[in-house]
Amino acid sequence: MIIVIDFGGQYNQLIARRIRDFGVYSELLPNTMTAKEIAEKKPKGIIFSGGPNSVYGENAPTCDPALFDLNVPILGICYGMQLMSAHFGAKVSRANHREYGKAMIDVDPNSVFYKDQPEKQSVWMSHGDLVEAPPEGFEVDAKSISCPVAAMSDASRGLYGVQYHPEVRHSEYGNDFLKNFVFNVCHADATWTMEHFIDEKVEEIRQIVGDRKVLCALSGGVDSSVAAALVHKAIGDQLYCVFVDHGLLRKGEADGVTETFSKDFHMNFIKVDAKDRFLTKLEGVSDPEKKRKIIGNEFIYVFEEEAGKLKDISYLVQGTLYTDIVESGTHSAQTIKSHHNVGGLPERMMFDLIEPLNTLFKDEVRLLGSELGLPDDIVWRQPFPGPGLGIRVLGSITEEKLKIVRESDAILREEIAEAGLDRDIWQYFTVLPDIRSVGVMGDARTYDYCIAIRAVTSIDGMTSDWARIPWDVLEKISTRIVNQVDHINRVVYDVTSKPPSTIEWE
Ligand code: XMP
Repeated sequence: MIIVIDFGGQYNQLIARRIRDFGVYSELLPNTMTAKEIAEKKPKGIIFSGGPNSVYGENAPTCDPALFDLNVPILGICYGMQLMSAHFGAKVSRANHREYGKAMIDVDPNSVFYKDQPEKQSVWMSHGDLVEAPPEGFEVDAKSISCPVAAMSDASRGLYGVQYHPEVRHSEYGNDFLKNFVFNVCHADATWTMEHFIDEKVEEIRQIVGDRKVLCALSGGVDSSVAAALVHKAIGDQLYCVFVDHGLLRKGEADGVTETFSKDFHMNFIKVDAKDRFLTKLEGVSDPEKKRKIIGNEFIYVFEEEAGKLKDISYLVQGTLYTDIVESGTHSAQTIKSHHNVGGLPERMMFDLIEPLNTLFKDEVRLLGSELGLPDDIVWRQPFPGPGLGIRVLGSITEEKLKIVRESDAILREEIAEAGLDRDIWQYFTVLPDIRSVGVMGDARTYDYCIAIRAVTSIDGMTSDWARIPWDVLEKISTRIVNQVDHINRVVYDVTSKPPSTIEWE
């Protein structure tokens, strides 16, 4: 394992991600961990990440100095290198010109990091401070015009530093740099594969659970589905999955999820048909926040009732991802929308949690799902909000309006898949605004609903841009929707980014 110590830089998760791509397990850990705690994890190498601070600044993050005595190779990146340099008595100063973006460096071809690479290469810099001269005992491995120490090493003590960011793609030979550290300095073995991960987790879950019973709230989304499949592999019939059909799901969704988990995987699968219950509670409610609260609360009541019927449950499975853990604590103070998701079950449920995906990134979870035999339509499912179609029918919800959204959404999904765009567009769906307009069909006047198409590109849903779907694909979608979905006489395309909009309309 390679441990990345987090000093707050924006690329830190990427460092761990790159190393995992080499087949070596890597974890990002807080800088407050002690050298003893870190040593217990038996790392083959340690990386100090970048960070926004200046090493001499107020509240600058530091590390346990005993880390330098562990006899484990350490690579400091950017702030990490400055911290190491300051610790060993070198001067870190404000650069005359802050350097952000592309820079050219000259490298020493004899350095362990640069073997068989060009002597001039382009790298990605992002720093305001720099190390003027390396600490005693260190050699300079690379430099640029404005940065006298772009990389440095003291092989005898196993200490290394780099000022630029080898983890970002813009650093031409960045991957080779990291590989050289991981394999030629730390001598790590590339043994971390999905198969290995599954074996390890299965064993761990069996140890924890013993012969007790485990509950899972399955939404059919990627994370809860993969978590359920993994726990099921470990403990089989000791797992009970509860799937709440709130009547706000997409066309074919409830049947698809039921088919996969109860028939293909033979799980203890409890499907709760709660449609009437939800629709009755939502009747006449048009305020988006009220709708969200009603759906979220009702979900919890239904789930608690089902959990109550199953006796002696000891654990609850949640599909929490690594990113959820690393990013927790960075939530914005203002509630834009109150999110409801399966992961947010109340504390009063008093189960111990099993979170088998909490060391994985999203793309690794997809890989794991495929390896466990889940079908592509679950593994590659686009994000779907907990309140479902309830927030895509604007204003008050009726069966008729839900049907319009469900049918138009199914057509949109079919056409996007047909055009081969389904893995490029982050999320795509239809929305029914609460407005009607005049149209003409077969020489007769119509006064019917209009449907909006929302399709966005995004990395994490925090910001997004509208997807540039080709005109001819949009044309086909529009024609099919007005011809095949009753009560629609107009289709519009939402061309707003987030911000200022949000992805969902409510
Ligand atoms: P917004 O509309 O806030 O959505 O731009 C960002 C992403 O979050 C999804 N979303 C939700 N997911 N529970 C969820 O699990 C919710 O209540 C919820 N509301 C929005 C949305 O689909 C998009 O991917």
